Amino acid sequence: MKNFILILFFIKVFSTDAQQMPPDKKWWKEAVVYQVYPRSFKDSDGDGIGDLKGIISKLDYIKSLGVDAVWLNPIYSSPNDDNGYDVSDYRGIMKDFGTMEDFDVLLKGLHQRGIKLVMDFVLNHSSNEHEWFKQSRLSRTSPYRDYYHWWNAEKGKPPYRYSLFDINHDAWKYDSLTNAYYLHYFSQKQPDLNWENPTLRKELYDIMKFWADKGIDGFRLDAFQFASKDITFPAFPDGYESNFLKYYAMGPYIHDYLQEMNKEVFSKYNVMTVAEGAGNNFDDAHNLVDAKRKELNMAYAFEGVDIPKSKGYSLLHFKEVFSRWDSAFAKNGWLSIFLSNHDQARMVSRFGNDTPEFRDLSSKLLNTFIMTMRGTPYCYYGDELGMTNAGFTKIEDYQDMPTQNEYQHQKDIKGNLDDFLKELQFSCRDNGRTPFQWDSSNQAGFSTGNPWLKVNPNYTTLNANAQEKDLNSCLNYFRKLVKLRKNTSVLVYGKYTILDKANPDVYAYTREEAGKKILVLLNFSTRQSEAKININLKNAKTILTNYKDSIERKTNSGIKLRPYEAVIYQL
Ligand code: NOJ
Repeated sequence: MKNFILILFFIKVFSTDAQQMPPDKKWWKEAVVYQVYPRSFKDSDGDGIGDLKGIISKLDYIKSLGVDAVWLNPIYSSPNDDNGYDVSDYRGIMKDFGTMEDFDVLLKGLHQRGIKLVMDFVLNHSSNEHEWFKQSRLSRTSPYRDYYHWWNAEKGKPPYRYSLFDINHDAWKYDSLTNAYYLHYFSQKQPDLNWENPTLRKELYDIMKFWADKGIDGFRLDAFQFASKDITFPAFPDGYESNFLKYYAMGPYIHDYLQEMNKEVFSKYNVMTVAEGAGNNFDDAHNLVDAKRKELNMAYAFEGVDIPKSKGYSLLHFKEVFSRWDSAFAKNGWLSIFLSNHDQARMVSRFGNDTPEFRDLSSKLLNTFIMTMRGTPYCYYGDELGMTNAGFTKIEDYQDMPTQNEYQHQKDIKGNLDDFLKELQFSCRDNGRTPFQWDSSNQAGFSTGNPWLKVNPNYTTLNANAQEKDLNSCLNYFRKLVKLRKNTSVLVYGKYTILDKANPDVYAYTREEAGKKILVLLNFSTRQSEAKININLKNAKTILTNYKDSIERKTNSGIKLRPYEAVIYQL
């Protein structure tokens, strides 16, 4: 028995990545992460809502993509005001999604396939239906009172705080039960937790350990940059909400909390950690992720993903943003690379071109970009197929709570509802949440019932089954890209250099490491464009291109690229 325990001890100690790789090389830098939005991935029981059993039934598909890790949006018990980002029991599974037994099968199934699981932790706020909040609101002397932020009404109205999701954008909700207001940066059903309370912090670390002990491999920290607040609640200047990040992100103790969390939780497990949001500037971002600070492994910043506004953006801007972020992290720290997630409309509709003519090519091009940049690539379910915005025209078709609230708000203030609806067609996050398009059968093979959010009608031709059969499909191209990324250290760690910076159509860059050099050429336009770069391609080898045929280019006098062409060369 003693020997057995000793062996287990050695396996545990010597299997950590720190022992297997040089200090700067980490599995989570080399990993490709695939994000699964559980509500929309696959429904197993016909209730129209994706579930854990549904994901389990598609594990071989996920494996076939070649990805290393799955990030799962919240699956905990929740009344679902914000699709699981309002947790009522952090140790329970949402009824719509299944049971803890299902979760265990899912985790085992992923691990059997060599895929890690990153869970989403919502620690800035809970649901108002969480037992803590129910107790907290009962009396001012409840031991749970300080789990949340309360403002007693006899002090007058609290200083204005902007809420992102509230109908009136008021983040204080009056509760007559104790004649006090509570704070909610998101909806009224998402009260903010008071991180200054050490008892609460311990409860949250215990919850994280509960999941880590189950064997999960990573934590995504939702909205965590907002967790620390100045709880004297000073007045903020008028109009501060147009730059609310400056006032809300990176509060006074955020780094203390993260260092404590690291010590209490992360340091005890072989887990990767990623924060949603990277503060206001590079210093903030570095303070979150620089290894010596022992906080998080990486963060994702919004500047890149926020570029397209109301259709159209400039490639020059895009190149400038991604180059600036790369150079800020060239020596220290690590970031994520992504162009979409569950809070965005579809990548191809925002950054590419979702017309039938260019959808496939531009989706491939965008995936090429993600997979050839430095930073851990995060790929959102459906982007491997080139799924597009649904573009619903009626407000009834949208299910997203903040969208519905904002519509009501616009109505109340007599805003232009037509313009608002038009904008939603382009940017509403429900566009990115429509059910996965498995095949051309009813409801895209997602569910035998009525899906919680309408299926995009283009599923009849745009679906995984059709793309499986086509060697040149977006799906099969995605698989090639993942494989290339996995087998090519220079794409993970190599130095990035932008070329032909002023070119408004073409994004060209090299990646270099240990004498290996790769050239990436991406034509982001609908016309033939020329990259003006001084590299002779005579001996270059085409590694991958998104066109069926690759053109011989033996020149350095201007390289012509076809519309939305993406080429990767080994130099
Ligand atoms: C960020 C999450 O990604 C988003 O989906 C959610 O609505 C908010 N945080 C609130 O938790």
